[in-house]
Amino acid sequence: MRVAVLVSGSGTNLQALLSACEATHDARVVVVVSDRPGSKALVRATDAGVATHVLDDPADGPALLAVLRRHQAELVVLAGYLKLVPADVVRAFADRMLNIHPALLPSFGGRGMYGRRVHEAVLGAGATLSGVTVHLVTAEYDRGPIVAQWPVPVAAEDTAETLAARVLAVEHQLLPAVVLAAARAGGVVRLLPHGGAFAALAPPPDLARQLTPS
Ligand code: GRF
Repeated sequence: MRVAVLVSGSGTNLQALLSACEATHDARVVVVVSDRPGSKALVRATDAGVATHVLDDPADGPALLAVLRRHQAELVVLAGYLKLVPADVVRAFADRMLNIHPALLPSFGGRGMYGRRVHEAVLGAGATLSGVTVHLVTAEYDRGPIVAQWPVPVAAEDTAETLAARVLAVEHQLLPAVVLAAARAGGVVRLLPHGGAFAALAPPPDLARQLTPS
């Protein structure tokens, strides 16, 4: 499965995905795209021998689509990408575009909710449980159908920094697990009929039947 990764920042999620893809032939990161020329994620991609591309204008859907098509991307992963994906790109990759968010959506998400602001909001709300969400990308920030969530406990003495570090470590486990599950399911992320995520990250029964050679 050919995976394109969109990044804006340090790229530790990208790094976790690159490492996971080294251990399998099910998925391969073929291009890393950023809206920021100086992001460390681009350095990680280059160090791993992966093609990179910097967007002149993140709102230019046709330009982004051209990059994804040029690299024959089959799955698009937003890993710390802070811009809204243009609607034509979301449509072109329906059910094939994932985002990771450092909280249990739909709580603590939406426009402007990223980085330490998320964890400050969790602590400010007095939540005793936070977590990581991987969801399908739609035209609105953090609103797509949820594919997978893993819980992360909040400690009484937590600061935004200590909570962020605990959540990030779980992100580095959940994102690769979901991407590889999606790759094994043919890259099309279908939700179970009764809602919710993959059953134990296995392809949904209807999809599994399609994938099982008769
Ligand atoms: C992560 O917390 C991710 O959930 C959020 O942005 C951060 C990206 O971190 N979308 P990194 O660039 O992967 O280190």
